[in-house]
Amino acid sequence: MVTETRLHPDDLIAPLFVREGIDEARPIDSLPGQFQHSRASLREEVRQLKDLGVPSVILFGVPERKDAHGSEAWNPDGIVQLALQDLRDDHGDDLVLCADLCVDEYTDHGHCGVLDGSGQPDNDATLELYEQIAVAQAKAGADIVAPSGMMDGQVFAIREALDEEGFDDIAILAYAAKYATALYGPFRDAVDVTIADGGDRKGYQQDIANAREAMEEIREDIAEGADIVMVKPAMPYLDVIARARAEVDIPIAAYHVSGEYAMVHAGAERGWLDLEAVAFEHTLAIKRAGADLILTYFARLLAEGMQ
Ligand code: PBG
Repeated sequence: MVTETRLHPDDLIAPLFVREGIDEARPIDSLPGQFQHSRASLREEVRQLKDLGVPSVILFGVPERKDAHGSEAWNPDGIVQLALQDLRDDHGDDLVLCADLCVDEYTDHGHCGVLDGSGQPDNDATLELYEQIAVAQAKAGADIVAPSGMMDGQVFAIREALDEEGFDDIAILAYAAKYATALYGPFRDAVDVTIADGGDRKGYQQDIANAREAMEEIREDIAEGADIVMVKPAMPYLDVIARARAEVDIPIAAYHVSGEYAMVHAGAERGWLDLEAVAFEHTLAIKRAGADLILTYFARLLAEGMQ
């Protein structure tokens, strides 16, 4: 009776990887229980997640060919576009289909944008690519596009591009406070991304020391038209989630990222942690802090436990 916070499968969004040119799912070493899916194995995985009550997935693509601009990201026959169509065919309106919107999985240098002369992403040139990706994803059946590149003005640019093409009902889930954390390592294995020349994303992602600045990013994204704002990673940034909750009335999402998932698995493998109990505690804490939606690789395990 006095429990303040309850988890429900409806709170969860499962991040899933789909790889071009493979016939069978490939396990990802640093993310136990997660796979680079083939188109067919992705369909099966989503069917099972739906049966468990998970209402939504977010797709990440691993293309066969990478180039300087990441052009496979907006190719109508690119892997994510094909997978979006498959899932839309399978589930109609009964699944909330999100697509991560970025180029780092598609560029040969691993940055989230097209590079300028100094080897850093050119913010404004990159916005033009994001606009094309948004439209390609919407055409393929995405309900929600989720820009994760942290370029300034990306939400506004994408909103305008979608509206111009008649996609005014497609929502934007903005990775608004996305930190330059050390916790994305396993994800970069999952999508075969190495940032060129030992580079990092500190030029465009948030400083891990700053919370006020993150609030400013959240406010800006809302002003630009974001429908949902995200804080990422989740556990080390519960203060940011709570602060956003106090100030913001639109839905807040939090991403329990690859490194957070991998840590729990590593502890459990050694017998030092109870996998399910810690997964549940992490997710519940994120919700208690104020998140409405949680992107987590534990979606399946949690939903199984909630049956
Ligand atoms: C970038 C992107 C990243 C993640 C989601 N989108 C990686 C990055 O910024 O390097 C990380 C997710 C995770 O670690 O689980 N497109």
